[in-house]
Amino acid sequence: MSRLLIRDLAQVATHPGTDGPLRGAALREVDVIERGYVLVDPDGTIAAVGAMRDLPSVGASDVEELDGTGLSAIPGLVDCHTHPAFGGDRVEEFSLRAAGATYEELHAAGGGILSTVAATRALDEDALLDRVRRHARRMLAHGTTTWEGKSGYGLDRDTELASLRAIRRSGGSSTWLGAHAVPPEHPDADAYLDFALAEVLPVASQLADAADVFLERGAFDAVQARRYLDACRAAGLALRLHGDQFTEAGANPLAVELGARSVDHLEATGPEGIPVLAASDVVGVVLPASALFLDRPMPPGRALVDAGAAVALATDFNPGSAFCESLPVVMSLAATQLKLSPAEALSACTVNAAHVLGRADRIGRLAPGFAADVVLLDAPDWRYVAYHLAGDVVATVIKDGAAVPRRAAY
Ligand code: NIG
Ligand code: FE
Repeated sequence: MSRLLIRDLAQVATHPGTDGPLRGAALREVDVIERGYVLVDPDGTIAAVGAMRDLPSVGASDVEELDGTGLSAIPGLVDCHTHPAFGGDRVEEFSLRAAGATYEELHAAGGGILSTVAATRALDEDALLDRVRRHARRMLAHGTTTWEGKSGYGLDRDTELASLRAIRRSGGSSTWLGAHAVPPEHPDADAYLDFALAEVLPVASQLADAADVFLERGAFDAVQARRYLDACRAAGLALRLHGDQFTEAGANPLAVELGARSVDHLEATGPEGIPVLAASDVVGVVLPASALFLDRPMPPGRALVDAGAAVALATDFNPGSAFCESLPVVMSLAATQLKLSPAEALSACTVNAAHVLGRADRIGRLAPGFAADVVLLDAPDWRYVAYHLAGDVVATVIKDGAAVPRRAAY
């Protein structure tokens, strides 16, 4: 493979990065190079980034050139929270919600997550793999070059493990969401956790990078979440929590106490919860597409950033609460609904999302030595990625130095 020179780009925008997750004013410090280039080494890492006027002589023979005229480059986007391992769909539920039913009512009536559990258990492993790959291709088409995927729609041993394998084989970072809901064959949450921790965790801990729990009314309470997370941490997994989606039920203090990587959702986080997160190293992952899709209050993204919290953005892609693979749409919602600037939104779904996945040393920035994951936008200004609502501005996605034409990714 030869080197790749992406030249004459209208703009190149990237955060310069720091060692830890970005917070406060640092989230806004995106560098923008006018008329720039990105030079990629044959091994798929970035060799250099700069202005065309400073382009070193690259020689003609071993360099493939990609004309960036009229395009802007940003780092490959990082989706640190998705649920792609599922069967079936929830289009019927979507229609019922449009007619007035609420998500929590449908869940309590055995619909919602549990209906997807039944549909997922009905798939064999190849079919599940096929589904995850299909979702991953769509994420890539929207500019996502790194993604995390959770299990949590199997909730029995075989389907949970098959989900984690499917996510890994599709190129995702895998999270065992073993505590997503209580499946019908168990009498209560404690009995289900007895099973999951004894029967599933020993293998899940070999297949997953992290563990996650849905700490919420109707799912798992703080005592159960602590038990689950303590066991997962002892098995070597990083910790994540779904918290404060509908109610503040103790997710933030628990995450801080256990040293979790993130607490995700935060739609219900109030004035007391914000400083708890802000004073910690736990990243607050906000999911505005989920709030929009369920017509729920938006998470307090602006207040979290202003309080000094490390904030990341993600899609929460799943069939029930956020059927959306597009981080550009999420960035747009971050600007219009959460009042984050485009620069803050970019940092949140590149550098900070990479920190949530423990990979900020290799991805999330356009910098020498980083993976050559680059999104080329059909736009004269990189901020169109948020500005052009659902505008399909992703022209080409480059993953590890190889260009994937956007349409081919589907
Ligand atoms: O992050 N809240 C819990 N889990 C998912 C939704 C799952 C579903 O509705 O299928 C979420 O929103
Ligand atoms: Fe989620």
